[in-house]
Amino acid sequence: MNLLVTGAAGFIGSHFVRLVRRVRPDWTVHVLDALTYSGNGTTMADFLADGGVMFHHGRIEDHTKVTEIVQGNQIHQIVNFAAESHNDRSLVSGSSFLVSNAMGVENLLNVVRENQLQRFVQVSTDEVYGTIAEGQFTEETPIAPNTPYSASKAAGDLQCRAHFKAYKTPVVLTRGGNTFGPFQYPEKLIPFFATRLIQGKHVPLYGDGSQIREWIHAEDHAAGVLHVLENGLVGEAYNIGDVNERTNLEILEVLLEETGRGQELVINIEDPRKGAHDARYSMATDKLQALGWKPEKEFIPSLRSTIQWYRENRDWWEPIVQDPQYQAFVKQYYGKYLGDLL
Ligand code: TYD
Repeated sequence: MNLLVTGAAGFIGSHFVRLVRRVRPDWTVHVLDALTYSGNGTTMADFLADGGVMFHHGRIEDHTKVTEIVQGNQIHQIVNFAAESHNDRSLVSGSSFLVSNAMGVENLLNVVRENQLQRFVQVSTDEVYGTIAEGQFTEETPIAPNTPYSASKAAGDLQCRAHFKAYKTPVVLTRGGNTFGPFQYPEKLIPFFATRLIQGKHVPLYGDGSQIREWIHAEDHAAGVLHVLENGLVGEAYNIGDVNERTNLEILEVLLEETGRGQELVINIEDPRKGAHDARYSMATDKLQALGWKPEKEFIPSLRSTIQWYRENRDWWEPIVQDPQYQAFVKQYYGKYLGDLL
């Protein structure tokens, strides 16, 4: 099998490639990544060194580039992890989110159809469902996204649906929960707070920290995507979650403990996401479990080992947090709340 994985220099995509190399060593894996701000060559260093993975630099919206890779390497299937993924950035400007998450998916779908590929897995998110006060999102829950990011992911999901209906393009969707683990760009809650606390810097908790997220480790998420690639039914969506709901305050407590820092570094800030801040995510995952997949990691121990990974791998994240573009975003977004504590 010749597999193309897009977005492999990113967080979940890189875990997926590592997993595929380990459990399907006879597959040939091609990876395409634009190496935008959150994609990182060093994240791929281990699997690019093993010789079984071929790297291509480019964007998923580039029809010529994707077609050349597919035709030049007899690609059979594509899994798309490439995305703009940070809600806070999308609230500053949503345009790049639509380019990658909607136009990029549309382009990949066209290439899949034109070259009659066997399968396209689109990696999406539970955030397309919006927020849920009680109960759980199922795959039948109507989508109701609340941020420019989640709206752009929903647009990609709808393009998948439309291509399946119109052309019978063999599409399968996954919708994962909040994912954590090594190699996550330090802008999301866990790596942002972990890297700041390790440095002894203050962390901005939005509002009272009561929001609930359903967390899943990146290795479990990657295994769920592989299971869907191999066993999912075309035209279907599958939730990938761990039935593991935690408030942001609970996550913060573990972060403080593991970094040895105290409450004095926590600043409760006025919620910068305002009405777009989803209060709770929770997914039913029976559909994928009925196909024979279940998550394996225990949450608290794997959250602790993730924080330890950030303590031990400063050489991975220090160049990122020292990058002027990263610092400019942090200043622009958090400057008015943190002032001198930035
Ligand atoms: P995040 O990791 O950005 O993921 P998502 O928006 O996809 O859920 O945020 C997780 C939660 O953490 C969310 O409720 C917002 C909150 N949060 C903070 O309180 N402070 C922060 O600096 C960040 C980045 C997030």
